[in-house]
Amino acid sequence: MEMSHLISLLILLSFETFGDSLRFPKNFKFGVATASYQIEGGWNASGKGENIWDRLTHEHPDWVKDHQNGDVACDSYHLWKQDVEMLKYLNVTFYRFSLSWSRILPSGFSNYINPDGVRYYNDLINELLKNGIEPMVTLYHWDLPQPLQEVGGWPNPLLAKYFEDYAKIAFELFGDRVKTWITFNEPPEVCESGYAEGANAPCYKSSGIGDYMCGKTLLLAHARAYHIYDKLYRPKQKGKVGITIDAIWAEPKTNRIKDIKAAERQMQMDLGWWAHPIFSKSGDYPEIMKNRIGNLSKAENFSSSRLPQFTENEIRFIQGSFDFFGLNHYSSWLVSDLKIPVNAPVSHWKDVSVLMQQDPKWKPSAATWLKVVPWGLRKLLNWIKKEYNNPPVYITENGFADFGELNDFGRLDYLKGYLNALLKAILLDGCNVKAYTCWSLMDNMEWRDGYTLKFGLYYVNFTNPKRTRTEKASAEFYKTIIETRTILED
Ligand code: NOJ
Repeated sequence: MEMSHLISLLILLSFETFGDSLRFPKNFKFGVATASYQIEGGWNASGKGENIWDRLTHEHPDWVKDHQNGDVACDSYHLWKQDVEMLKYLNVTFYRFSLSWSRILPSGFSNYINPDGVRYYNDLINELLKNGIEPMVTLYHWDLPQPLQEVGGWPNPLLAKYFEDYAKIAFELFGDRVKTWITFNEPPEVCESGYAEGANAPCYKSSGIGDYMCGKTLLLAHARAYHIYDKLYRPKQKGKVGITIDAIWAEPKTNRIKDIKAAERQMQMDLGWWAHPIFSKSGDYPEIMKNRIGNLSKAENFSSSRLPQFTENEIRFIQGSFDFFGLNHYSSWLVSDLKIPVNAPVSHWKDVSVLMQQDPKWKPSAATWLKVVPWGLRKLLNWIKKEYNNPPVYITENGFADFGELNDFGRLDYLKGYLNALLKAILLDGCNVKAYTCWSLMDNMEWRDGYTLKFGLYYVNFTNPKRTRTEKASAEFYKTIIETRTILED
């Protein structure tokens, strides 16, 4: 028997088993997630300011399927007590939700704090704690206050300071009770979809330029929030601060060296773009990114100077600014090398130059981009373990899209597969994963897909003004996993 197999076997034997199944470690946490714009509604209630999704959906209603928007959504601005009852029923350890920046600071700036917005989050947090549920709070889940967009949004470096001010206010107001903070949700979506591909608000198109500018501000904004917490709040509040990065698993399509390199390039230039500056030993962008986009000495053409550099001080400031690695993961792709003509328009995809496909044999979901590939999660977790020295990982999102069936066996199957892969990553591979979060507590406003794609453990009736919530089969299934800390095979 090989040494590595022997070690795996010993690790395995040292864990508790339940029947024949593996169990999650005792202190492992389970939760569910939502985000402010996707569930709250109350878009202009009680002093809330306008954000970029309000503006987009009101000015360009055809941007979202069926001309939908988040004006009412799940109406959690009023129905938050029902949400907590559902959470209680599921028996989750924690609830991940986000603060609406413009509900707290209507203009985006710290000149005026909206008391009703503060009251709303205080009520929610207190009700969670009363029910023994830990709040895990995301500061930014895509709903930038519109006035900050008027000055250019995230590509404007000043936003790093405005974000720090907002984070400080949130720590000040809620940090006595909130012990887990996520600065940003999914930077690639904020920067690539928002400022390069034009798919998400504010829908700028400047691929290969605006995304890199946005990226620099966002990483500095994250680090500012981390450091201000560290300096002023951690000593008393004793909480943790991290960032949530989304990542696919990039599997080489063939074992040709070119495709293996292409898949690694995809990992480095998509996940590494964000993770390398924070979690790696060297800090800064990954080498390959600097070589391909930022290295002026190797510049063949103008496009080689698009990556905004960090100063030495900035590199040190960002490096190590984490207490955990928040990971959103849904699916995997097969990656092969692709030569893109030099005269093709500049873009991040040109910089990465890979072809991405999904195996038609993989089980589909209602979302075109989401195929069921549980082993991809295990490989991804092992990649992070190796690349970043096994940091504590919180899986902050993972979930399945369908069209809203109550007997949502597709979701059940997905959860079973991914949670089994996760168990193996923890118990057999030694990946340091501390928490798992299912997206989502309930069906909600799925951005450009409106209310057509559903991710919820609870069904929400969006045609009923009461927005009634109904438990799906997957809610019962997830509850059993949480309570038994294992996944029983059928
Ligand atoms: C990730 C995003 O954080 C969330 O807002 C979205 O609804 C889910 N993915 C599903 O697409």
